[in-house]
Amino acid sequence: MSNLDVVILAAGKGTRMQSKLPKVMHHLGGKPLISHVIERARDLNPNAIYVIYGDKDFSSRHQIDSPDLDFIEQTKQLGTAHAVIQTIPKLSSRHTLILYGDVPLLKKDTLLRLLDSNSPLSVLSTELHSPKGYGRLIRNQSGQIRKIVEEADASEEEKLISEVNTGIIFAQTKLLKTWLPKIENNNAQREYYLTDLVAIAVAENQNVQGVLAGSHTEVMGINTKAQLAQAERVLQAERANELLVQGVTIADPTRIDIRGNLNCADDVFIDINCIFEGTVNLSTGVSIGAHSIICDSDVGEGTQILPYTQIDNAKIGRNCRIGPYSRLRTGTSLGENVKIGNFVETKKTTLGSRTSANHLSYLGDSEVGEDVNIGAGTITCNYDGKDKHKTIIEDKSFIGSNSSLVAPVRVGSNSVVGAGSTITKNTEADKLTVGRSKQITVAKWKRPIKKT
Ligand code: UD1
Ligand code: CA
Repeated sequence: MSNLDVVILAAGKGTRMQSKLPKVMHHLGGKPLISHVIERARDLNPNAIYVIYGDKDFSSRHQIDSPDLDFIEQTKQLGTAHAVIQTIPKLSSRHTLILYGDVPLLKKDTLLRLLDSNSPLSVLSTELHSPKGYGRLIRNQSGQIRKIVEEADASEEEKLISEVNTGIIFAQTKLLKTWLPKIENNNAQREYYLTDLVAIAVAENQNVQGVLAGSHTEVMGINTKAQLAQAERVLQAERANELLVQGVTIADPTRIDIRGNLNCADDVFIDINCIFEGTVNLSTGVSIGAHSIICDSDVGEGTQILPYTQIDNAKIGRNCRIGPYSRLRTGTSLGENVKIGNFVETKKTTLGSRTSANHLSYLGDSEVGEDVNIGAGTITCNYDGKDKHKTIIEDKSFIGSNSSLVAPVRVGSNSVVGAGSTITKNTEADKLTVGRSKQITVAKWKRPIKKT
């Protein structure tokens, strides 16, 4: 819809969060609360998006900064109406939609319905079993909205009303600009309440329409850590449900956390307590073991990730077997049929197809070819205290257990490094290289005896 300005209120102190971080920067589903609201605003293709912020340095703002956002400071937080007043000189489209930075779960369809309402002022409302804390919608006997009363100002009788204000309103800009300066702060909190717009419009005989939100969960306002945790569960349940609908098998949809975009092909299985962050792509037939954490990675067809594995910024080929207890760090790239076992850590490392590193290894800044066997306890010594150096292990070589490869170093193809070696020079292809002191037996040695 064109001819629309969106205002996002985000200047509140968020005292009830008991935190130094501005409330709207607390994370929900892996990103700040306000980012969810900004996305919904963008869905509507408005002419402008104004973000009202209050925290002077708002140092966490860079996380959301973008050229399509216009940040306006509200130096004193005197209430939601006072916040919107800051935008009066800027609002220039026919309609204005006001969103709250702490109401992040809104659905696009709900907003489209609100934008379809053809009144000078429309209020998005919902019915709640326990409406405590929300502003109540007061209607007359014929059902017309007369005003909104905040919890702090509500009488015992008004507190029984279950239809509440979500905070989201849609208004004709011209009228909004005339109503805002009429709002006063003679209420329990000495604040300029945006909700007073309703009574002002009614006094001018303007029609105020109520539009019901699609569900009460999508309009949850987040004021406390308890509400944040509750909203997180609502969002995660929605995300898990979308995957189930697509055909993903999830061992327990209440025990999965998707903090980004998880894209799954057919026949993917996800066991309990897995966390996905950033963009993760799982190809057909991938199975993710319990308690795994995967961030910004691609996993190839048929690959099995076994329990307790952590993967960050990696590309994994087809039919690999990773874990249990593996840690693939940034810049790991695996071919097909690669095996990485328990307590193996990789970083900036490529492993060719059919290569295995099954136990207790560190492979950093390395290029490992195809059909290589990395014995248990192999370490690439990639750091000299100042710089990082590269280890190259060519195809078909075999690194004996507990070897240290001191980089920069190259292990020739089809060669063997004897167990326990410390390799400081390049090794020759097709040869056995052993780099350790010879085993001796000490002839006159006597076992020490404890003195009594
Ligand atoms: C508000 C509504 C209430 C509604 C509820 C829904 C008012 C007066 N009350 O109450 O009717 O049921 O939301 O969640 O509007 N903010 C500013 N500047 C300020 C004050 C607040 O930008 O000076 C921002 C906050 O950052 C927040 C939003 O406005 O994003 C709402 O403020 P909050 O204090 O949380 O209002 P509620 O008490 O929840
Ligand atoms: Ca709130």
